[in-house]
Amino acid sequence: MDLAGKNVVYLGGFGGIGQKACAELLERKLQALAVFDLTLNAEILGDWQSKYPKTTVFYQKLDITQRSDIEAAYKVAAERMGHFDLVINGMGLMDDRHVELTIQINLLGVVNSCLVALEYMDKSQGGKGGRIMNISSVAGIQPTPIMSVYSAAKHGVTALTRCLAGSPNFERSGVSFITICPGFTDTPLLHDIREKTTFQIDSAMRAIKRQPPQVCAQNMVKVAEQAKNGTAWLLDVGEIKELEFPVMWTPQLEE
Ligand SMILES: NC(=O)c1ccc[n+]([C@@H]2O[C@H](COP(=O)([O-])OP(=O)(O)OC[C@H]3O[C@@H](n4cnc5c(N)ncnc54)[C@H](O)[C@@H]3O)[C@@H](O)[C@H]2O)c1
Repeated sequence: MDLAGKNVVYLGGFGGIGQKACAELLERKLQALAVFDLTLNAEILGDWQSKYPKTTVFYQKLDITQRSDIEAAYKVAAERMGHFDLVINGMGLMDDRHVELTIQINLLGVVNSCLVALEYMDKSQGGKGGRIMNISSVAGIQPTPIMSVYSAAKHGVTALTRCLAGSPNFERSGVSFITICPGFTDTPLLHDIREKTTFQIDSAMRAIKRQPPQVCAQNMVKVAEQAKNGTAWLLDVGEIKELEFPVMWTPQLEE
């Protein structure tokens, strides 16, 4: 997908990875960028609006745990942009001590955001098709015991995204779905990690290598431009790798 002239919606665009990814997207000469997030970062929004005057950049408040907020945000964005070419679900929370919120933000929020976005994008409902990229995690492909609830939610995101890309969904909607699985990335999400594990850990924890958010963002945008429908990408320690999933079951059809 050539991003020049395209309309992009980024959920969680003021977060650590989101800020860098939006800046990277704006370099592609977008037509418009809608940033949906819990709170406005007026300074960053103002910087983007003055640095990229040819792109319409606007903020829409949204609490991803509220379906009504999601519906309202997409409605406003559709009124301003007309249609969406690319939607990135990039909000998130890693805090297993808040079980419901972890599932609501990381999984249910992505489910609802995809379903509402499809109401506008789905070709079978009068939309133009497009692309939705969901940010999962390495914890969404590999069980991560210290963050068991987050890992379960992120596995859900990986599964959801691959399902929405699959047949017959893609053929009907014309919307391609891509999964992104970042490794540890230096953002506020990782702050006070010992206070956010599923259970308290008293032993020493070894530090895991982190990548800068800018590097993750640059690789994310490359994937958004180039990846095929249904693919999933590991973005860890500055590298990009397409993931392969074993087929563990095929349905046995009745005669
Ligand atoms: N940082 C990492 O190591 C890492 C690794 C793998 C995956 N991820 C994923 O990358 C994405 C971005 O994370 P980040 O590292 O930039 O974290 P971050 O904490 O810097 O940003 C999270 C973003 O989500 C938004 N958000 C949180 N709760 C919300 C709510 N209720 N409604 C709307 N928005 C809400 C925040 O406002 C913020 O913009 C997340 O999906 C995260 O799970 C991060």
